[in-house]
Amino acid sequence: MPLVTSTEMFKKAYDGGYAIGAFNVNNMEIVQGITEAAKDLNAPLILQVSKGARAYANHTYLMKLVEAAVIETQLPICLYLDHGDTFETCKSCIDGGFTSVMIDASSKPFAENIEITKQVVEYAHDHGVVVEAELGTLAGIEDEVKVSAEDSSYTRPEEVEEFVSKTGCDSLAIAIGTSHGAYKFKPGTKPQLRFDVLEEVSKRLPGFPIVLHGSSSVPQEFVEKINHFGGNMPGAVGVPEDQLRKAASMSVCKINIDSDLRLAMTATIREFFAEHPDKFDPREYLKPARQAIKEMVAHKIKDVLGCDNKA
Ligand code: G3H
Ligand code: 13P
Ligand code: ZN
Repeated sequence: MPLVTSTEMFKKAYDGGYAIGAFNVNNMEIVQGITEAAKDLNAPLILQVSKGARAYANHTYLMKLVEAAVIETQLPICLYLDHGDTFETCKSCIDGGFTSVMIDASSKPFAENIEITKQVVEYAHDHGVVVEAELGTLAGIEDEVKVSAEDSSYTRPEEVEEFVSKTGCDSLAIAIGTSHGAYKFKPGTKPQLRFDVLEEVSKRLPGFPIVLHGSSSVPQEFVEKINHFGGNMPGAVGVPEDQLRKAASMSVCKINIDSDLRLAMTATIREFFAEHPDKFDPREYLKPARQAIKEMVAHKIKDVLGCDNKA
Protein backbone atom coordinates (compact mmCIF):
# COMPACT_ATOMS: atom_id res chain seq x y z
CA MET A 1 0.00 0.00 0.00
CA PRO A 2 1.44 3.43 -0.93
CA LEU A 3 1.21 6.53 1.26
CA VAL A 4 -2.36 7.84 1.29
CA THR A 5 -3.91 11.30 1.61
CA SER A 6 -6.09 12.11 4.61
CA THR A 7 -9.32 12.29 2.54
CA GLU A 8 -10.66 8.78 3.20
CA MET A 9 -9.33 8.72 6.77
CA PHE A 10 -11.15 11.93 7.63
CA LYS A 11 -14.42 10.81 6.05
CA LYS A 12 -14.43 7.64 8.15
CA ALA A 13 -13.27 9.45 11.29
CA TYR A 14 -15.97 12.10 10.94
CA ASP A 15 -18.71 9.51 10.50
CA GLY A 16 -17.28 7.18 13.14
CA GLY A 17 -16.83 9.77 15.90
CA TYR A 18 -13.10 9.30 16.36
CA ALA A 19 -9.92 11.16 15.35
CA ILE A 20 -6.63 10.22 13.71
CA GLY A 21 -3.44 10.92 15.64
CA ALA A 22 -0.92 13.12 13.88
CA PHE A 23 2.48 12.53 15.43
CA ASN A 24 5.68 14.42 14.61
CA VAL A 25 8.69 12.46 13.41
CA ASN A 26 12.34 13.47 13.48
CA ASN A 27 14.34 10.23 13.40
CA MET A 28 14.12 6.48 12.93
CA GLU A 29 13.29 5.51 16.51
CA ILE A 30 10.39 7.96 16.63
CA VAL A 31 9.00 6.63 13.33
CA GLN A 32 9.36 3.07 14.58
CA GLY A 33 7.81 3.69 18.01
CA ILE A 34 4.75 5.41 16.54
CA THR A 35 4.18 3.00 13.67
CA GLU A 36 4.67 -0.15 15.78
CA ALA A 37 1.92 1.04 18.13
CA ALA A 38 -0.39 1.79 15.21
CA LYS A 39 0.33 -1.60 13.69
CA ASP A 40 -0.42 -3.48 16.92
CA LEU A 41 -3.73 -1.61 17.22
CA ASN A 42 -4.60 -1.62 13.52
CA ALA A 43 -4.97 2.17 13.54
CA PRO A 44 -4.83 4.64 10.63
CA LEU A 45 -1.98 7.06 11.10
CA ILE A 46 -0.72 10.50 10.19
CA LEU A 47 2.99 11.16 10.45
CA GLN A 48 4.01 14.77 10.23
CA VAL A 49 7.23 16.57 9.53
CA SER A 50 7.90 20.16 10.57
CA LYS A 51 10.23 22.64 8.92
CA GLY A 52 12.57 22.02 11.87
CA ALA A 53 12.44 18.26 11.31
CA ARG A 54 13.39 18.70 7.65
CA ALA A 55 16.27 20.93 8.66
CA TYR A 56 17.40 18.40 11.28
CA ALA A 57 17.03 15.09 9.48
CA ASN A 58 16.76 16.03 5.77
CA HIS A 59 13.65 15.57 3.64
CA THR A 60 14.86 12.44 1.85
CA TYR A 61 15.85 10.58 5.02
CA LEU A 62 12.45 11.25 6.58
CA MET A 63 10.64 10.32 3.38
CA LYS A 64 12.49 7.01 3.17
CA LEU A 65 11.92 6.22 6.86
CA VAL A 66 8.20 6.76 6.40
CA GLU A 67 8.18 4.65 3.23
CA ALA A 68 9.89 1.88 5.21
CA ALA A 69 7.17 2.15 7.86
CA VAL A 70 4.48 1.76 5.18
CA ILE A 71 6.15 -1.43 3.95
CA GLU A 72 6.64 -2.80 7.46
CA THR A 73 3.15 -2.03 8.79
CA GLN A 74 0.98 -2.24 5.64
CA LEU A 75 -1.13 0.47 7.29
CA PRO A 76 -2.78 3.47 5.63
CA ILE A 77 -0.24 6.17 6.53
CA CYS A 78 -0.54 9.78 5.49
CA LEU A 79 2.55 12.02 5.43
CA TYR A 80 1.96 15.66 6.31
CA LEU A 81 4.01 18.82 6.25
CA ASP A 82 3.37 20.37 9.68
CA HIS A 83 3.09 24.18 9.82
CA GLY A 84 4.28 24.96 6.30
CA ASP A 85 5.12 28.65 6.46
CA THR A 86 5.45 29.55 2.77
CA PHE A 87 4.23 28.42 -0.64
CA GLU A 88 7.81 27.34 -1.44
CA THR A 89 8.06 25.01 1.59
CA CYS A 90 4.70 23.46 0.70
CA LYS A 91 5.68 23.07 -2.96
CA SER A 92 8.93 21.40 -2.02
CA CYS A 93 7.06 18.82 0.12
CA ILE A 94 4.42 18.27 -2.58
CA ASP A 95 7.15 17.76 -5.19
CA GLY A 96 9.02 15.54 -2.71
CA GLY A 97 6.23 12.99 -2.20
CA PHE A 98 4.20 14.19 0.81
CA THR A 99 0.50 13.38 0.48
CA SER A 100 -0.77 16.30 2.58
CA VAL A 101 0.53 19.71 3.54
CA MET A 102 -0.45 22.27 6.10
CA ILE A 103 -0.09 25.91 5.15
CA ASP A 104 -0.07 27.94 8.33
CA ALA A 105 -0.67 31.57 7.47
CA SER A 106 -2.78 32.02 10.60
CA SER A 107 -0.58 34.83 11.89
CA LYS A 108 -1.31 36.89 8.75
CA PRO A 109 -4.38 39.09 8.25
CA PHE A 110 -7.50 37.20 7.10
CA ALA A 111 -7.28 38.27 3.43
CA GLU A 112 -3.59 37.39 3.22
CA ASN A 113 -4.19 34.01 4.90
CA ILE A 114 -6.83 33.32 2.20
CA GLU A 115 -4.52 34.38 -0.61
CA ILE A 116 -1.53 32.24 0.49
CA THR A 117 -3.71 29.24 1.34
CA LYS A 118 -5.48 29.43 -2.02
CA GLN A 119 -2.15 29.46 -3.86
CA VAL A 120 -1.02 26.32 -2.00
CA VAL A 121 -4.38 24.59 -2.56
CA GLU A 122 -4.23 25.18 -6.33
CA TYR A 123 -0.74 23.69 -6.62
CA ALA A 124 -1.47 20.84 -4.19
CA HIS A 125 -4.75 19.77 -5.81
CA ASP A 126 -3.10 19.76 -9.24
CA HIS A 127 -0.68 17.20 -7.77
CA GLY A 128 -3.21 15.02 -5.87
CA VAL A 129 -2.18 16.45 -2.49
CA VAL A 130 -4.60 17.76 0.16
CA VAL A 131 -4.24 20.89 2.26
CA GLU A 132 -4.88 21.81 5.89
CA ALA A 133 -5.13 25.52 6.70
CA GLU A 134 -5.46 27.39 9.99
CA LEU A 135 -7.72 30.16 11.29
CA GLY A 136 -7.12 31.59 14.75
CA THR A 137 -3.83 31.62 16.66
CA LEU A 138 -2.64 29.12 19.25
CA ALA A 139 -0.45 30.13 22.16
CA GLY A 140 2.86 28.35 22.77
CA ILE A 141 6.05 27.54 20.89
CA GLU A 142 6.38 25.98 17.48
CA ASP A 143 9.47 26.03 15.26
CA GLU A 144 11.07 28.51 17.68
CA VAL A 145 8.22 31.02 17.21
CA LYS A 146 6.69 31.90 20.57
CA VAL A 147 3.12 33.20 20.76
CA SER A 148 2.10 34.51 24.19
CA ALA A 149 -1.30 33.68 25.66
CA GLU A 150 -2.30 37.35 25.23
CA ASP A 151 -1.47 37.27 21.50
CA SER A 152 -3.34 34.02 20.87
CA SER A 153 -6.91 34.28 19.61
CA TYR A 154 -9.80 31.87 19.27
CA THR A 155 -11.09 31.11 15.79
CA ARG A 156 -14.01 33.34 14.83
CA PRO A 157 -16.77 30.99 13.63
CA GLU A 158 -18.30 33.72 11.45
CA GLU A 159 -15.15 33.64 9.28
CA VAL A 160 -14.90 29.92 8.55
CA GLU A 161 -17.38 29.53 5.66
CA GLU A 162 -15.84 32.36 3.67
CA PHE A 163 -12.34 31.06 4.41
CA VAL A 164 -13.06 27.48 3.33
CA SER A 165 -15.05 28.42 0.22
CA LYS A 166 -12.50 30.98 -0.97
CA THR A 167 -9.43 28.81 -0.34
CA GLY A 168 -10.74 25.34 -1.20
CA CYS A 169 -8.76 23.86 1.73
CA ASP A 170 -9.54 20.26 2.69
CA SER A 171 -9.41 20.58 6.48
CA LEU A 172 -9.19 23.42 8.96
CA ALA A 173 -7.14 23.79 12.13
CA ILE A 174 -8.92 25.97 14.66
CA ALA A 175 -7.96 27.61 17.93
CA ILE A 176 -10.27 26.61 20.81
CA GLY A 177 -7.80 26.85 23.67
CA THR A 178 -5.14 24.25 22.92
CA SER A 179 -1.54 25.43 22.86
CA HIS A 180 1.83 24.27 21.52
CA GLY A 181 4.68 22.90 23.61
CA ALA A 182 5.13 21.48 27.12
CA TYR A 183 4.31 24.71 28.98
CA LYS A 184 0.69 25.26 28.05
CA PHE A 185 -1.19 26.32 31.16
CA LYS A 186 -0.10 27.41 34.63
CA PRO A 187 0.19 24.67 37.27
CA GLY A 188 -2.98 24.42 39.30
CA THR A 189 -5.23 25.67 36.48
CA LYS A 190 -7.93 23.54 34.87
CA PRO A 191 -7.92 24.21 31.13
CA GLN A 192 -11.30 24.25 29.43
CA LEU A 193 -11.50 23.97 25.64
CA ARG A 194 -14.08 26.21 23.95
CA PHE A 195 -16.54 23.57 22.78
CA ASP A 196 -19.01 26.34 21.98
CA VAL A 197 -16.59 27.60 19.29
CA LEU A 198 -16.07 24.08 17.96
CA GLU A 199 -19.83 23.49 17.81
CA GLU A 200 -20.47 26.76 16.01
CA VAL A 201 -17.69 26.05 13.48
CA SER A 202 -19.08 22.54 12.87
CA LYS A 203 -22.58 23.89 12.36
CA ARG A 204 -21.30 26.26 9.71
CA LEU A 205 -19.16 23.57 8.02
CA PRO A 206 -21.23 20.39 8.10
CA GLY A 207 -19.19 17.27 7.31
CA PHE A 208 -15.95 19.23 7.15
CA PRO A 209 -12.89 17.85 9.02
CA ILE A 210 -11.56 20.01 11.85
CA VAL A 211 -8.01 19.75 13.23
CA LEU A 212 -6.64 20.46 16.70
CA HIS A 213 -2.98 21.36 17.14
CA GLY A 214 -1.20 21.69 20.46
CA SER A 215 -2.96 18.67 21.94
CA SER A 216 -0.35 17.14 24.21
CA SER A 217 -1.50 16.47 27.74
CA VAL A 218 1.93 16.86 29.40
CA PRO A 219 1.71 13.83 31.72
CA GLN A 220 3.09 14.84 35.11
CA GLU A 221 4.76 11.48 35.66
CA PHE A 222 7.16 12.24 32.78
CA VAL A 223 7.88 15.81 33.88
CA GLU A 224 8.54 14.47 37.39
CA LYS A 225 10.78 11.72 36.07
CA ILE A 226 12.78 14.21 34.00
CA ASN A 227 13.24 16.41 37.07
CA HIS A 228 13.95 13.43 39.34
CA PHE A 229 16.79 12.40 37.05
CA GLY A 230 18.54 15.75 36.86
CA GLY A 231 16.20 17.86 34.71
CA ASN A 232 14.81 21.24 35.61
CA MET A 233 11.46 21.60 33.88
CA PRO A 234 9.03 24.13 35.34
CA GLY A 235 5.64 22.66 36.22
CA ALA A 236 2.94 22.86 33.57
CA VAL A 237 -0.48 21.55 32.70
CA GLY A 238 -1.50 20.17 29.31
CA VAL A 239 -4.79 19.65 27.50
CA PRO A 240 -7.04 17.26 29.48
CA GLU A 241 -7.41 13.98 27.62
CA ASP A 242 -11.13 13.66 28.36
CA GLN A 243 -11.70 16.95 26.50
CA LEU A 244 -9.71 15.66 23.51
CA ARG A 245 -11.78 12.48 23.53
CA LYS A 246 -14.92 14.60 23.43
CA ALA A 247 -13.53 16.69 20.54
CA ALA A 248 -12.68 13.46 18.67
CA SER A 249 -16.28 12.32 18.99
CA MET A 250 -17.37 15.59 17.34
CA SER A 251 -16.05 17.06 14.06
CA VAL A 252 -12.35 16.91 15.03
CA CYS A 253 -10.72 14.34 12.74
CA LYS A 254 -7.00 15.04 13.33
CA ILE A 255 -5.30 15.67 16.67
CA ASN A 256 -1.65 16.77 16.69
CA ILE A 257 0.62 15.41 19.39
CA ASP A 258 4.36 15.96 19.62
CA SER A 259 5.41 17.22 23.07
CA ASP A 260 4.10 14.14 24.92
CA LEU A 261 6.34 11.94 22.78
CA ARG A 262 9.32 14.18 23.48
CA LEU A 263 8.63 13.98 27.20
CA ALA A 264 8.34 10.18 27.12
CA MET A 265 11.56 9.83 25.16
CA THR A 266 13.57 12.27 27.25
CA ALA A 267 12.36 10.92 30.60
CA THR A 268 13.30 7.40 29.53
CA ILE A 269 16.77 8.36 28.36
CA ARG A 270 17.45 10.39 31.53
CA GLU A 271 16.38 7.44 33.65
CA PHE A 272 18.56 5.09 31.63
CA PHE A 273 21.69 7.20 32.15
CA ALA A 274 20.97 7.71 35.84
CA GLU A 275 20.77 3.95 36.27
CA HIS A 276 23.57 3.04 33.85
CA PRO A 277 26.18 5.81 34.01
CA ASP A 278 28.75 3.47 32.45
CA LYS A 279 26.82 2.80 29.21
CA PHE A 280 27.48 4.58 25.94
CA ASP A 281 26.01 2.41 23.16
CA PRO A 282 23.17 4.52 21.61
CA ARG A 283 21.16 1.39 20.90
CA GLU A 284 20.93 0.68 24.61
CA TYR A 285 19.23 3.98 25.46
CA LEU A 286 17.32 4.48 22.21
CA LYS A 287 15.65 1.08 22.52
CA PRO A 288 13.73 1.90 25.75
CA ALA A 289 13.08 5.42 24.40
CA ARG A 290 11.47 3.91 21.30
CA GLN A 291 9.41 1.62 23.53
CA ALA A 292 8.24 4.60 25.62
CA ILE A 293 7.06 6.35 22.45
CA LYS A 294 5.25 3.19 21.38
CA GLU A 295 3.43 2.99 24.74
CA MET A 296 2.50 6.67 24.65
CA VAL A 297 1.08 6.38 21.12
CA ALA A 298 -0.82 3.19 22.00
CA HIS A 299 -2.41 5.01 24.93
CA LYS A 300 -3.42 7.95 22.71
CA ILE A 301 -4.89 5.66 20.03
CA LYS A 302 -6.96 3.61 22.46
CA ASP A 303 -7.90 6.05 25.21
CA VAL A 304 -7.97 9.47 23.53
CA LEU A 305 -8.42 9.22 19.75
CA GLY A 306 -10.54 6.09 19.60
CA CYS A 307 -9.06 5.04 16.24
CA ASP A 308 -7.93 1.52 17.17
CA ASN A 309 -9.11 -1.11 14.69
CA LYS A 310 -10.11 1.58 12.17
CA ALA A 311 -7.33 1.05 9.60
O1 G3H B 1 3.88 22.33 16.39
C1 G3H B 1 5.07 22.08 16.29
C2 G3H B 1 5.58 20.69 16.43
O2 G3H B 1 5.61 20.29 17.78
C3 G3H B 1 6.90 20.57 15.76
O3 G3H B 1 7.90 21.15 16.52
O4 G3H B 1 8.97 22.74 14.94
O5 G3H B 1 10.17 21.93 16.99
O6 G3H B 1 9.78 20.40 15.05
P1 G3H B 1 9.29 21.59 15.82
P1 13P C 1 2.01 19.68 21.14
O1 13P C 1 3.16 20.60 21.36
O2 13P C 1 0.90 19.95 22.11
O3 13P C 1 2.41 18.25 21.15
O4 13P C 1 1.41 20.01 19.68
C1 13P C 1 2.01 19.50 18.53
C2 13P C 1 1.49 20.13 17.28
O5 13P C 1 0.51 20.84 17.26
C3 13P C 1 2.21 19.85 16.05
O6 13P C 1 1.71 20.57 14.97
ZN1 ZN D 1 0.90 22.47 15.55
